[in-house]
Amino acid sequence: MLVSATEMLNKAREGKYAVGQFNINNLEWTKAVLLTAQENNSPVILGVSEGAGKYMGGYKTIVGMVNGMLEELKITVPVALHLDHGSYDGALKVIEAGFSSVMFDGSHYAIEENIAKTKEIVEIAHAKGISVEAEVGSIGGEEDGVVGAGEVADPAECKLIADLGVDMLAAGIGNIHGQYPENWAGLSFDALEAINNLTGTMPLVLHGGTGIPADMIQKAISLGVSKINVNTECQLAFAAATREYIEAGKDLQAKGFDPRKVLAPGFEAIKATVKEKMELFGSVNKA
Ligand code: G3H
Ligand code: ZN
Repeated sequence: MLVSATEMLNKAREGKYAVGQFNINNLEWTKAVLLTAQENNSPVILGVSEGAGKYMGGYKTIVGMVNGMLEELKITVPVALHLDHGSYDGALKVIEAGFSSVMFDGSHYAIEENIAKTKEIVEIAHAKGISVEAEVGSIGGEEDGVVGAGEVADPAECKLIADLGVDMLAAGIGNIHGQYPENWAGLSFDALEAINNLTGTMPLVLHGGTGIPADMIQKAISLGVSKINVNTECQLAFAAATREYIEAGKDLQAKGFDPRKVLAPGFEAIKATVKEKMELFGSVNKA
């Protein structure tokens, strides 16, 4: 059964590790993440962007697929199904469709409007036991059409949003979606520390988890980060493994064109990436 992300993130915050949010794109992605979580006895969050939601046929399709896998693959670790960077309307739709967690990303609004809309989503979601993530500041780069300027969050604004009763808070701290450029200045730990000091025990969320060096991940966790989002890294691993299969001409060999064979190397590459992240984040054996 899907669970809200609240309990797993509060436990992570207390135990000084982070739960990975891995974005899903199709059946193979979903199955790879769920099986890896089960094999590593790790809680996990399946992230769905609005673009991926449309691609997969709609939110109800995803809820049906994930619930079916939880039962038939015998997944017993805690799993949350979470809308990633949701709009106000998107958040309402997934709440109706049966997601167990939602991010309302109001970071592009003025703070007053971000507060007003986040407050409404918190009331609606909490009435159904669904956890809520909000965002302050912004994540640089682009993810599935969501473009951010990369403004470092104002700690006082973070406190205003945290006080609305959200279950987790994403704050821009110099993190970027996609691959980090060579000249990236790194995470702003001064900002993270100030946000952590002002928001008490709020689980903080680190977006743009692809390619952040291990020492920065550890330091971020020590400063309250309890959820880390990874998307691009699984996509890169999937694409590289699929390319290798095709370039080696394996699709031309006996039955090698069977989609279950063509997609298998990418599936295994996602599993390896997710396992590596779970080990780095410290969530193995924390289910
Ligand atoms: O919301 C999802 C993430 O922040 C993923 O970022 O694609 O850089 O790993 P990433
Ligand atoms: Zn993100």
